[in-house]
Amino acid sequence: MKYLVTGGAGFIGSHIVDEILKGGDKVIVYDNLSTGRKLFVKHNLSNKRFKLVIGDVLNTKKLTREMKGIDFVLHMAAHADVREGFKDHSIDHVQNLEGTQSVLEAMYKTGVKKIAFASTSSVYGDAKVHPTPEDYPFESTSLYGATKAACESYIQTYASYYGWKVYIFRFVSFIGERYTHGIIFDILKKVKKNKKVLELLSDGTPKKSSVYVGDGIDAMFKVIDLSKEQINIYNIGHDDILTVDQIVDTIIEAGNIKIKKKYLGGKKGWMGDNNFVHLDNSKLKKLGWKPKLSFKQGIKKTVEYLQSEESKNSLFR
Ligand SMILES: NC(=O)c1ccc[n+]([C@@H]2O[C@H](COP(=O)([O-])OP(=O)(O)OC[C@H]3O[C@@H](n4cnc5c(N)ncnc54)[C@H](O)[C@@H]3O)[C@@H](O)[C@H]2O)c1
Repeated sequence: MKYLVTGGAGFIGSHIVDEILKGGDKVIVYDNLSTGRKLFVKHNLSNKRFKLVIGDVLNTKKLTREMKGIDFVLHMAAHADVREGFKDHSIDHVQNLEGTQSVLEAMYKTGVKKIAFASTSSVYGDAKVHPTPEDYPFESTSLYGATKAACESYIQTYASYYGWKVYIFRFVSFIGERYTHGIIFDILKKVKKNKKVLELLSDGTPKKSSVYVGDGIDAMFKVIDLSKEQINIYNIGHDDILTVDQIVDTIIEAGNIKIKKKYLGGKKGWMGDNNFVHLDNSKLKKLGWKPKLSFKQGIKKTVEYLQSEESKNSLFR
């Protein structure tokens, strides 16, 4: 098999690439390195089954050239910062929706018939059902979630036109090695700037869930191997739920940090945030998936990674 991973130099994409190479297949990483890093794929540069292409998914011509002979596209490239869409109303539209349409056109032109897509729990917005199942309607509260929902619809439309096989994964937040954005990163960055007071965005009560990246990748490949529908839609989420305050305490304890917490906000951390994220993972569990790490163990691993020499020398510079 020959795979192309858009965003393959990013946090999640680079782990997917490692998994593909472990299985003996070939992979092209197509990434513009806007938030991804060469560092995350550098251990694969000498592998003959690996190729890194620095390119933008919006460049359909270049992407189409690279897609020739590919069997399976894993489309991970996106603008993945939920908060920014409130200030810049076009960034998610261009990077996520137009970017995805460009990927679909390149697939159409080259005859690729399989795609996996990184969607998100944000498509459900402030869902009123918890845990939230896959058939819950789209109620996005962010342009990030809205464009991801639109991308899912575009992908399903191309699939119905051309008989493609589709895997749509709605991730909760992922944590672990190579994590570069999200609450754990933000907190450790703040602690570096102010060692006395840690200012936090919400009131500490929002409830969140996360999956360790290794468990998330395991879930994705389990679905790809075992789910036989034409359109396969799966939540990837954990049963463990923690409040923001519990998450912060776990980070502080894992990082051996002594600091005073100061909550500045209300029920939501920012415009577009969701104060209760808990995905129903029963469909995934029916395939035999079970996370190896608890939410708290995942946080500890992430803090360990962010305090490692690799992170200190690159991510926090
Ligand atoms: N990290 C999470 O918790 C999470 C949760 C839900 C969904 N997702 C989705 O999973 C995917 C991967 O997220 P991540 O956390 O690894 O983020 P990331 O920012 O680390 O990865 C995104 C990658 O895409 C690349 N990229 C961005 N725009 C591009 C473009 N126009 N052309 C080519 N490459 C481009 C970036 O350089 C980066 O390597 C994204 O689609 C994101 O929306 C992530």
